[in-house]
Amino acid sequence: MNREEEVCICHRVSLGKLTNYIKREEPKVASQLSECLGAGTGCGWCQPFLKKILDQHQSGDSMELKVGFENYADKRQQYKSRNCIHEEGDA
Ligand code: FES
Repeated sequence: MNREEEVCICHRVSLGKLTNYIKREEPKVASQLSECLGAGTGCGWCQPFLKKILDQHQSGDSMELKVGFENYADKRQQYKSRNCIHEEGDA
């Protein structure tokens, strides 16, 4: 996933926005990332990925998600279907 692509698709929060926020604010727990434009507060799909990038930062690693955006977005759709989460404007 590149920096322009959205980790939190619900709230359109890109990887770049999240990594900048993490470097600036040094959140202690992933739930604090909700303060970055509401990341993680929609369908919930991205929450494990938010935790992963925060864990990477706290371990001194570079923050990245080794998943293609299309695959990531498809899996989110499946997650939402399984959990009967529907939002206006979804394809
Ligand atoms: S993709 Fe982040 S809450 Fe839905």
